[in-house]
Amino acid sequence: MIIALNNKCNLTKDTFLAYQEDLAKITTTDHLILCPSFTNLALFNLTNVSLGAQNTSIDDQGAHTGEIAAQQLASFTVKYCIVGHSERRTTQHETNEDIAAKISQLFKNDITPILCVGESLEQRQNKSYPEIIKTEIIEATKSLTPPEKERLIIAYEPIWSIGTGLIPQNSEIMEVLTIIKNILPQSKILYGGSANDENIDTLKECPLIDGYLLGGLSLKIDNLQKFLKKLTH
Ligand code: PGA
Repeated sequence: MIIALNNKCNLTKDTFLAYQEDLAKITTTDHLILCPSFTNLALFNLTNVSLGAQNTSIDDQGAHTGEIAAQQLASFTVKYCIVGHSERRTTQHETNEDIAAKISQLFKNDITPILCVGESLEQRQNKSYPEIIKTEIIEATKSLTPPEKERLIIAYEPIWSIGTGLIPQNSEIMEVLTIIKNILPQSKILYGGSANDENIDTLKECPLIDGYLLGGLSLKIDNLQKFLKKLTH
């Protein structure tokens, strides 16, 4: 399983160094991908964990004050990058077109994108979520080659589930994962949104999930270790 750890906008230099020491003690056979803040990328020194980022620029290196280009990420051995997280779609007004440009920058620099898709509570209630999710995927991937589509990782994150403690029923997750598989049959699919060491026993019964994108849990090493143990037993 792929376990991507989204630290979001957390951990200063010193707290990240302490966190990383604790993370080094985790035992698992799953593939961990740590996505720290940009400021902590250069401090990364773990051997059994892959390095990811949380965002990238739509542009190449150049006159783009405040941006971080995919070439710069690659030079820090970043191998994965989250794109289209709902927090960025909402607060930074990222469009599917922006996300497509970021994905193409990542592939140009040999970084695997983790594309986040998911519906709001309103979209779930008014039943527009299948169309919303299809559009998010189709518009973000339309210029990709077949091998790039295979390599792309999708994270299904219902917005109403992120950081709320609420998770969908397995049947609801399955319905969306089936929609995604119909568009991208080869892509790995992660589930994200309040996944933790208490609900993993239920979530792991859901077929088609290839891994998890963990936000809050990524910062709680003891609970993360419990989560990983339950996932394999
Ligand atoms: P959460 O966040 O696990 O804290 O709900 C997941 C995410 O936003 O990637």
